[in-house]
Amino acid sequence: MSVQIRLAKPEDAPAIERVASETGVASIDPGSPRARRVLAEGQTLVATKDAAVMGFVGCLFTAYPTGGRRFELDLLAVAPEAQRRGVGTRLVAASKSFAADAGARQVRALVRCENAAMQRLCRRHGFARSSDVFELHIVDPQPVAHQSRLHEARVIPVETLSYSGLWLEGKLSREAIADAHQLASQIEVTVIGAVIPNNALETRKLLQASSFRKVGAYHWWTINLKSD
Ligand SMILES: CC(C)(COP(=O)(O)OP(=O)(O)OC[C@H]1O[C@@H](n2cnc3c(N)ncnc32)[C@H](O)[C@@H]1OP(=O)(O)O)[C@@H](O)C(=O)NCCC(=O)NCCS
Repeated sequence: MSVQIRLAKPEDAPAIERVASETGVASIDPGSPRARRVLAEGQTLVATKDAAVMGFVGCLFTAYPTGGRRFELDLLAVAPEAQRRGVGTRLVAASKSFAADAGARQVRALVRCENAAMQRLCRRHGFARSSDVFELHIVDPQPVAHQSRLHEARVIPVETLSYSGLWLEGKLSREAIADAHQLASQIEVTVIGAVIPNNALETRKLLQASSFRKVGAYHWWTINLKSD
């Protein structure tokens, strides 16, 4: 199959939405200003055959606490009729090159423990699987009366094809969660999420007490692009 990889454009939104919905990978509103903004940013790649979109990968950059760019493989999907023919492999290879050219130190993906196809893909590309299993917990933003207080977590705004969110990383606390809700009320955010090791029992209790719900169990798959 002769497949081309190129940067996605806003006009690709309907075709990307079709692949996302056929694979169940995410719900994307192709007409939303967010989807168009994300596609215009030039961090989404599409795989095409005869100009038709067969697959896509949506990526974003985040920063390490100590500085430096980290490349997040956020959404990857290949249309069911084109799967198992190397399209996913091509998209991941292109993402790695893109990340390296942009100076990222690491590429990472949060992959469901039961997603055999994605795990094989990551392994083939030299990604290492975390020894820990992680849980993703999410909550809808709520209005809070809160004065910002010191905490040791990071509240990271992200915008992807399917959501605008805040990722909570680092040492989670009531203050950090309240801060995230407060920030969510100031910017357009649809979800707040936290990824924690599945043996972090106290943190899980804190998240549950704060109305977070568990989405599933995952591994981080990472590959370093250059030494620190
Ligand atoms: C994951 C996905 C993108 C892989 O795309 P693809 O084009 O089929 O992948 P490739 O053909 O390049 O195959 C890559 C590897 O995965 C394996 N693979 C593909 N589909 C598989 C399946 N259903 N079960 C087990 N292994 C599978 C291939 O055998 C290959 O392994 P190898 O390199 O060891 O031979 C595709 O299955 C998909 O869109 N899944 C639904 C969405 C999803 O889960 N996305 C990832 C989470 S964001």
